[in-house]
Amino acid sequence: MRDFSHRSGQSELMDEGGLSFEEFHHCLRSLEVINVLTLAYRPTLRWLKGMMVGAPLSILDAGSGGGDMLRRVERQAKHARCSASLTGVDLNPWSKQSATLSSPSSAIRYETADIFDFEAKTSVDIVICSLFTHHLSDGQIVDFLRWMDGRANKGWFINDLQRHKLPYYFIKAATALFSHNRLIRHDAAVSVSRSFTVADWRNLLDRADLRARARVQWVFPFRICVSCRKV
Ligand SMILES: C[S@@+](CC[C@H](N)C(=O)[O-])C[C@H]1O[C@@H](n2cnc3c(N)ncnc32)[C@H](O)[C@@H]1O
Repeated sequence: MRDFSHRSGQSELMDEGGLSFEEFHHCLRSLEVINVLTLAYRPTLRWLKGMMVGAPLSILDAGSGGGDMLRRVERQAKHARCSASLTGVDLNPWSKQSATLSSPSSAIRYETADIFDFEAKTSVDIVICSLFTHHLSDGQIVDFLRWMDGRANKGWFINDLQRHKLPYYFIKAATALFSHNRLIRHDAAVSVSRSFTVADWRNLLDRADLRARARVQWVFPFRICVSCRKV
C-alpha cells in the first residue's frame, strides 16, 4: 500500500536520459490530452485573464513541455487584444522540438535550459508553470519560489497536482487501460505521488519567506494552485 503522507522520491522516466524524440513527443501529446480531460488549463487562464488588461505582457512558462499551456495563453491574449510575448523554457531539448512541431504558426519562443540557469533577455512580467514543481525536490522548490518572485514583475502562478490516493489509483488504472506510452503509464501516477498537499505548500512558502504574499488554492479536480499577484 502506498503512503500518501509525504511526497514520494520515486523518479519519473521522462526525467531520465536516453529517450527517443518519438517517445518523448508522444508522451507530451498524450499529456495534452490528459490536460484537456482534467480541465488543467482553466485555473491558470482564469488568473491570467485578470492580468490581460492594457499594457503588453511578457510571460514565461517554466517546464513548458509541449507548449500546450502557452498555445492557450496565446489564444486568450489574442481574444483579449493583449499583446503578449510568450517564452517556454524546458530542460529537455526534445521539448522545444515537440512544441515547435505542435505550434508551427505561432510566435511563441521555446528555449532549452535548466530554469535555474535561464537568464531572460528582456524583463519578465509573469512566470507560470504547470505540472512542473512536482519534478523538483523540496529544496529546489524553495529556490524556484524565490527565483520566480525575484524575476516576475507582476506575479507568478503555479499549477500542480494534489497528492491523494483517489487521483493516484484513478490515473494508474486509466493509463494502464488507455495509454500505450511507457512514460505516461509510469509517470502519470508517480506524478501524483510526488505532488503536494495544501499544508506542503504552506510549509514551502514559509521556507521561501513568501507565505504572507502568496495564495494557495485547491482547484477541482485534485489540483493545487499557488499564486502571487504584485499589481
Ligand atoms: C510533466 S512535464 C509538464 C509539461 C507541461 N508544462 C504540461 O503542463 O503538460 C514537466 C516538464 O518540466 C521539465 N523540467 C524538469 N526539470 C526542469 C528544469 N530544472 N528546468 C526546466 N525544465 C524542467 C521537463 O523536461 C518536462 O518537460
